[in-house]
Amino acid sequence: MTSQEQSKHVSFTLLVAWLVLLSSCKANPRSNTEIEALLKWKESLPDQQILQSWVAHINATASSPCRWSGIACNNEGSITEINLAFMGLRGTLQNLDVSSFPNLLRLDLKVNNLTGTIPTNIGTLSKLQYLDLSTNSLNGSLPLSLANLTQVYELDVSRNNITGELDRRLFPDGTSLSKTGLLSLKNFLLQRNKLGGRIPEEIGNLKYLVILALDGNHFCGPIPPSIGNLSHLTTLLLNQNELSGKIPISLGSLKLENLFLFINKLSGSVPDEIGNLSSLVALHLAEKNLTVLRVAGNMISGTIPNEIVELSQIGYLDLSSNQLSSNIPAEIGKLSKLSYLILKDNKLSGAVPAGIGGLSNLESLDISINMLGGSIPDQIGDCWKLQSLSLSKNCLNGTIPYQIGNLRALQDLDLSFNSLMGGIPPQLGSLSDLENLNLSNNSLNGLVPTSLGSMVSLISINLSNNNLEGPLPEGKIFRSATLEAFSNNKDLCGDIQGLRLCNAPAIKKGDGNMKSKLVIIVVPSLVGALSLSITSIGIFLFLNKKHSRNMVKDESTSNSENPFSIWYFDGKTMYEDIIEASKSFDDKYCIGLGGTAKVYKVEIPGAQVFAVKKLRSLAEGTETENIKSFTNEVAALTEIRHRNIVKLFGFCFQEVHSFFIYEFMERGSLAGMLGSEEGAKELDWATRVRVVKGVAHALSYIHHDCSPPIIHRDISSKNILLRSNLEACISDFGTARFLKPGSSSWTTIAGTYGYLAPELIYTSIVTEKCDVYSFGVLVLEVLMGKHPGELITNLNSSTDTSVPLKNVLDDRLSPPRSLKIADELALMENLALLCLCAHPQSRPTMRNVCRQLEMQAANN
Ligand SMILES: *[C@@H]1O[C@H](CO)[C@@H](O)[C@H](O)[C@H]1NC(C)=O
Ligand SMILES: *[C@@H]1O[C@H](CO)[C@@H](O)[C@H](O)[C@H]1NC(C)=O
Ligand SMILES: *[C@@H]1O[C@H](CO)[C@@H](O)[C@H](O)[C@H]1NC(C)=O
Ligand SMILES: *[C@@H]1O[C@H](CO)[C@@H](O)[C@H](O)[C@H]1NC(C)=O
Ligand SMILES: *[C@@H]1O[C@H](CO)[C@@H](O)[C@H](O)[C@H]1NC(C)=O
Ligand SMILES: *[C@@H]1O[C@H](CO)[C@@H](O)[C@H](O)[C@H]1NC(C)=O
Ligand SMILES: *[C@@H]1O[C@H](CO)[C@@H](O)[C@H](O)[C@H]1NC(C)=O
Ligand SMILES: *[C@@H]1O[C@H](CO)[C@@H](O)[C@H](O)[C@H]1NC(C)=O
Ligand SMILES: *[C@@H]1O[C@H](CO)[C@@H](O)[C@H](O)[C@H]1NC(C)=O
Ligand SMILES: *[C@@H]1O[C@H](CO)[C@@H](O)[C@H](O)[C@H]1NC(C)=O
Ligand SMILES: *[C@@H]1O[C@H](CO)[C@@H](O)[C@H](O)[C@H]1NC(C)=O
Repeated sequence: MTSQEQSKHVSFTLLVAWLVLLSSCKANPRSNTEIEALLKWKESLPDQQILQSWVAHINATASSPCRWSGIACNNEGSITEINLAFMGLRGTLQNLDVSSFPNLLRLDLKVNNLTGTIPTNIGTLSKLQYLDLSTNSLNGSLPLSLANLTQVYELDVSRNNITGELDRRLFPDGTSLSKTGLLSLKNFLLQRNKLGGRIPEEIGNLKYLVILALDGNHFCGPIPPSIGNLSHLTTLLLNQNELSGKIPISLGSLKLENLFLFINKLSGSVPDEIGNLSSLVALHLAEKNLTVLRVAGNMISGTIPNEIVELSQIGYLDLSSNQLSSNIPAEIGKLSKLSYLILKDNKLSGAVPAGIGGLSNLESLDISINMLGGSIPDQIGDCWKLQSLSLSKNCLNGTIPYQIGNLRALQDLDLSFNSLMGGIPPQLGSLSDLENLNLSNNSLNGLVPTSLGSMVSLISINLSNNNLEGPLPEGKIFRSATLEAFSNNKDLCGDIQGLRLCNAPAIKKGDGNMKSKLVIIVVPSLVGALSLSITSIGIFLFLNKKHSRNMVKDESTSNSENPFSIWYFDGKTMYEDIIEASKSFDDKYCIGLGGTAKVYKVEIPGAQVFAVKKLRSLAEGTETENIKSFTNEVAALTEIRHRNIVKLFGFCFQEVHSFFIYEFMERGSLAGMLGSEEGAKELDWATRVRVVKGVAHALSYIHHDCSPPIIHRDISSKNILLRSNLEACISDFGTARFLKPGSSSWTTIAGTYGYLAPELIYTSIVTEKCDVYSFGVLVLEVLMGKHPGELITNLNSSTDTSVPLKNVLDDRLSPPRSLKIADELALMENLALLCLCAHPQSRPTMRNVCRQLEMQAANN
């Protein structure tokens, strides 16, 4: 026998002995069955830390299962909850005899490593209200006995490998006499499994349904029109299946906020559908509150209904990859909240309407691969938030409007494969955030404007297949690009292999030293200002002594709204000092590792200690994500200055090494401190209160005192760093975004699992309330000493949101002795719970959080 088997054997023998003992003491027989069932299950699982407290014990008080981790009981001592979510649990449910838990209300095993099938007798849990098995590796089909779970309001089996079909008998029969079926279901989530077959019409009898998420399966056949009966439904996710047929008109009677139908085989034909497709929209028009409409990747034909312009709340409209013909509605500009407009890959004709200039919140416009003609309207220059503009593969003619140069947020501009004429407007050179520029395959002529040479953020350029001539401008992108980018023009010249050299004096080649330019940021007013931290003066003087002769103000990055200016130094020596002190970034100086960066502790003799964050392989210029993260961080941190935000002293962006130079935070991350016994003890209650307040003030500052506001998007205990005096600072602005007041932002998901706001699962809309949510998680983590994990999900699903403070406080510290601190902790817990509201609107603002914290402090 191995020692593991042995210990199992011992515990089982003990169990049997103990049960004999208990029965002779006339203990509650129900409780016995429950204990026996749990221990039997435990015995069948691999040995694991989390179940260590599950042991039978001769001492009845010590061994009550109600004290076992993940178990909760009612007053009679019968088990009501099994909650082992996020525990890395391994094994199967095969030996969990669910019929032994007659009083179980919640079974939460989400995000574990469970394999095998869902127990076929799961339906014997007749009182169950909450069942979450999502994010495991369960296979097999959905047991029919689920139909007996008439009290369940939340059923989530998403992200497993469940196969088979949805049996119609799982649903109530629709008569008022119906005794079986998931009668109480509100949230039904089966996302990303391998379910197939048709969606039964009876699903329309789940009359309390709010969320129906069947996306990412193999469902086929039509969308049941009966879904239109689900009057409480707000979120309907049917995307990425094989559904066919028309979109049922009945959906129009719903008050949907999220309707995802993309990537299916839905169809429709022209004249009929004008009315019907438009009534799809018109139906929503009646409610006016649809914010997301994605019907991409289907076979919808006909026109874009004019009624679409009445969707006044719409933020995201994606009709791409269908068969839509017709013009783009002239009044499209009325959709003032639209952030994303994606009409790519259809058969749209006519001109791009001038009204498009009215889309003042538009961030991404993709009308590529259509048959649009005429010229690009000048009004496009009014869409001042545009980050991505693609008009490629149409039949556009006329010249490129110079107004595109006004789109200062633009990162991607693709006008390739059209018939554009005339010269490239020099104004494009002012697109300081532009990363990709594609003007290939047009009829552009004249010289390439020298202004393009100064576009520092440019990563790729393509000017091929035009009629351009003359010398290429100087600038990094023109040195690093290949011939392909400029081929098939009239007569371009420059220092690129394959192009002829210009007759004019050769373009000066940047030598290695010139390229290594270190950029040091200082606050100009700081020279006289007392508020300046000593560390900043230190580096300023340090650099100033060595490089005062080479100080240049860079116009292109200074910004009148920016209270600070950026000064560029020829920082060659500083650059070399850093390389030397870190022995060319030797791993022995590495103190941290992230997805795109490594952090080094660098001690420069005669100066101070810095934390240098070096980005990976920025040099290749291919990893757009890295570059984005770099520019985000520079942009965010040059804008802001706060005692609870980590100080950035400088940055260096060049071919070999790209890095940031930060204040060195002696005590490392909050996660690290809380994770160690010693660290947790050192973070006493008063210090934890200070940490929470510091983070709250910093977040309030970036949300409410910066213009434009900044959303951090990745608040987590790993990104909170501590100074030697345990003062907390927010770091890592690599995913930060700027936001115009009142607007919201569409984006890919960023952030850390376990801190992400729940709305990000359904939509990718980012507001400052996402940071507020993460802050809520962080506060609980500071109070509890560990990530709150399952506590949060329990909060979201129970109506009773009060959790007694003493139940959450980190038990490695003795309870707070001072009444003042205890009050502050209680307030923090309450605020955290508010921050964790599922609905973003219900969360407080960070300014409000700070105000309440200050009021409490003042009252004491
Ligand atoms: C049983 O366990 C409880 C709690 O651990 C302890 O207080 C009590 O003294 C124990 N009783 C016996 C008889 O060992
Ligand atoms: C499941 O196990 C694998 C490997 O054992 C591990 O990498 C993964 O993180 C585990 N997943 C969860 C949710 O614990
Ligand atoms: C589903 O099964 C496939 C193999 O059939 C496996 O590769 C995949 O990881 C499984 N997915 C989950 C979520 O368990
Ligand atoms: C379920 O997965 C297990 C491995 O986890 C495999 O042995 C079994 O064959 C699978 N069953 C089905 C029905 O796919
Ligand atoms: C539901 O429960 C009833 C009564 O216990 C039982 O007869 C029936 O077989 C169960 N249905 C399923 C599908 O398990
Ligand atoms: C549900 O929808 C179906 C099809 O749309 C309809 O025939 C039926 O009358 C509806 N039932 C109720 C109760 O509204
Ligand atoms: C579809 O549109 C046509 C033409 O507008 C209309 O006559 C018909 O009633 C519509 N069908 C439905 C189901 O609404
Ligand atoms: C639409 O939104 C407005 C404002 O948020 C609200 O007052 C109204 O009740 C909503 N309408 C529906 C049908 O949900
Ligand atoms: C530009 O395109 C429009 C529409 O396709 C066409 O009517 C017009 O003649 C074209 N102009 C030129 C100069 O080719
Ligand atoms: C234009 O160039 C960009 C990168 O520079 C590329 O991503 C895009 O696909 C190109 N457009 C076309 C239509 O090929
Ligand atoms: C781009 O234009 C060139 C020359 O006009 C043409 O030969 C080439 O086929 C075009 N490329 C594509 C993909 O259409």
